[in-house]
Parts: sequence; structure tokens; C-alpha cells
Amino acid sequence: MKIVVDSKENIYKQVTEIYVNKINNNPNINLGLATGSSPLPLYDNLVNEYELGNVSFKDVRTFNLDEYCGLEKDSTHSYFHFMNKHLFSRVDIDLKNTHIPSGCESNVDYYNQLLEENRIDLQLLGIGSNGHIAFNEPGTDFSQKTHKIKLADKTIEDNSRFFTNIKDVPQEAITMGLSNIMDSKEIILIIIGDNKAKILKEIIEIEEPTEDIPATILKNHKNVTVFIDYEAGKYLKNIN
Ligand code: F6R
Repeated sequence: MKIVVDSKENIYKQVTEIYVNKINNNPNINLGLATGSSPLPLYDNLVNEYELGNVSFKDVRTFNLDEYCGLEKDSTHSYFHFMNKHLFSRVDIDLKNTHIPSGCESNVDYYNQLLEENRIDLQLLGIGSNGHIAFNEPGTDFSQKTHKIKLADKTIEDNSRFFTNIKDVPQEAITMGLSNIMDSKEIILIIIGDNKAKILKEIIEIEEPTEDIPATILKNHKNVTVFIDYEAGKYLKNIN
């Protein structure tokens, strides 16, 4: 894993530059996309670059990591809504080229086949404070492909900030599996903020990847860059 520690602002600048270059070099690029707080500044920067005429999404294809079960597509809490609001409706992407898993178990096979036919060139990841990537919660088998999961209590608690009441947070989701994620040619993991500092220290210090901390599987991938801001990296030695 290549590690970059910098200010939050510089991290998003660097990651934005990477995306603009990759898309310009390969306009048909298959991007694996994430939701949550971590990608938001990147999406805003990319919209800005698009408005400046520096990048076009016309032929880009996207594949999202996950979606809650049981929400209507147009619910303001769905990841379908999130992606349209924060990226798709603000750039020239063809909505036919955007893919978000939905329907939970009914769509598992379809999504796995889609990913087999469209290998992801660049996968964007955030990380849960419990070490999940996508919605692969602690204990998930490393060999899993797209599947339906029960969200961990910690994830429900963390994500309740997006809902009026914690009781409204869906209990289940459909998620790309760790094996789909590991098939991506390249991965960028963004880790921002104090609440990620503890799990990040554990991931860095652990030698052998363990299913107890799903993100440790990334140590087995050949092309992963982890972008960490100073707050998330506060327990790492020699960085402050
Ligand atoms: C989102 C996703 C999750 C988030 C993670 C971190 O599609 O798959 O794994 O990346 O929960 O969320 P934030 O960025 O909100 O801290």
C-alpha cells in the first residue's frame, strides 16, 4: 500500500488531479464509486473541473459499491439519490452508464456479472470506523462477491447522522464483496478525520490481513494508494 499523509485540502487536490488525468487518458474508464462523506469534496472538485472544461464524463462508466435495502429509489437517503445529487446531475455523464446495486438479493447475480464484464479500472473507497470497506462488515469472508448484508451496529450508529432518527437507518444493504473490490486494477482509499484514527493505526500495524478488519485485505492488492489527512493519521509515527 502506498501511503500519502497530507492536509485534507491537499489530499482532495491530489486525488482530483489523479481522476482528471485518468479520465482524460481513458475516456471510457470504469470507475468504482463510493458514497458517504469521504468522496464529497472529490465530487465537488470534479464538478468544478468539468465546469472549467478540463474533463468530460460523457463516456465514463461508473459502478457504485453499495445501496441500502428497502428504500425507494427516490428516497433522499438512497445512494441512487446521493450519486445523482452530488455528481451525476452536475456533469455530462450518460445515466445509462451509471450503475448502482439495488433490489438487494434479486440483483446480486446481475451485479456480479456486470462487474465481471466491466473490470473496474479505478475503485474509490472510504472506510468505516469499524474497518469496513463498502458494506463488508467485520467477519465478512474475503472471498465474497456482491451480497446482501446486515449492517453492523457501529455502522448504523455512524450513518445515523444522515437520518433524523437512528431507527430510520436501514438494517440491511447490498454491497460489492471484497473479492469484487480486489479485482479492481487500482484502488484509492480516502481516510479523513479523527474518528478513523484508531482503526487506521490498527490496519497499519497488523501484519497479516484478517477478516476481523475487512480493510486489511487491501494489503494484498498490488496497486492501492491510501490518502490520509493529519487527523486520521494522528497515531501514526513520524507524520506530524
Ligand atoms: C459508501 C461505503 C462505505 C463508506 C464508509 C465511510 O459507499 O461503501 O464503506 O465509504 O462507511 O463513510 P464516510 O465516508 O461517510 O466516513
